[in-house]
Amino acid sequence: MAFPATRMRRLRKTGVLRGMVRETELSPSHLVYPMFVGLGEARAPIEAMPGIDRLSISHAVEEAGQAQELGIAALLLFGVPADKDEVGSGAYDEEGVVQLAVRAITEAHPDLVVITDVCLCGYTSHGHCGVVLEDGRIDNDATLDLLARTAVSHAQAGAHAVAPSDMMDGRVGALRGALDAEGCQDTPSVAYSAKFASAFYGPFREAADSAPAFGDRRSYQMDPANADEAVREALLDVEEGADMVMVKPALPYLDVIRRVKEATRVPVAAYNVSGEYSMLKAAAAAGYLDERATVLEALTAIRRAGADVVISYHAKDVARWLR
Ligand code: PBG
Repeated sequence: MAFPATRMRRLRKTGVLRGMVRETELSPSHLVYPMFVGLGEARAPIEAMPGIDRLSISHAVEEAGQAQELGIAALLLFGVPADKDEVGSGAYDEEGVVQLAVRAITEAHPDLVVITDVCLCGYTSHGHCGVVLEDGRIDNDATLDLLARTAVSHAQAGAHAVAPSDMMDGRVGALRGALDAEGCQDTPSVAYSAKFASAFYGPFREAADSAPAFGDRRSYQMDPANADEAVREALLDVEEGADMVMVKPALPYLDVIRRVKEATRVPVAAYNVSGEYSMLKAAAAAGYLDERATVLEALTAIRRAGADVVISYHAKDVARWLR
């Protein structure tokens, strides 16, 4: 029965009424805070990401404590190694930066969930996510073993979950097989399943010093125009043993989040990436937008689209605002 019998505004009259019928909840327990950790004692601001720094391990331990106090569920760690080479050895070095950071953080804050990004791009001299052949192509299958070694070394250092972000075919299964063979059968994988070749990663590449030295990532990351393919990627990762799947970036891909959730019915994470963060920070700094209101709206929208977990550089601010 339409108007006047139906009046949608009846349930919008007061804050309490609106709260009663609110369909989507945003709370710190859904949030993951990404952190960049380097060797050495310096704390270096990232120019395009105001409020986010590259941290030393001891700073990372301190920030992890703040995140936990704010009720944030988990961290996602990215390492910035001292040296790089053709095959990204620093990624699977047992004494590498992520491995050391995981040990330090889990020892200091045993209840915080620590997830590690598993990829080679931050560790390779050419900046690609896989092994590069002489003709410049990326060798999918040769990369799998290195990714699997990386994941196992993270799990053995104490990571609670590993998140492969390289977009090689078959990596989720390769990681699962290696983790199981090494006694890490209880370590879940959070697969970056629908990871698009996005220009919104720009600020991250400054932060992680991981821009490709030649070419781009379009031979492995997805074409932003494709959603059926994103669903296929997610279903394949679930078949290969992914415990959680991810869509990345988040805001320009809300439709993909919804479709992946409906198709897989597994927990879905969405990555509100560096460029999405920078946009709102820049607009807020210029006085064009209200930072708090826009960030809360954006993250609520990502949850509404179907994300169980939201990975965001805004996580600490959001947790403070929700107090
Ligand atoms: C590494 C990786 C990237 C991001 C997360 N893992 C960069 C890339 O693929 O170039 C981007 C995260 C962000 O922009 O916040 N493969």
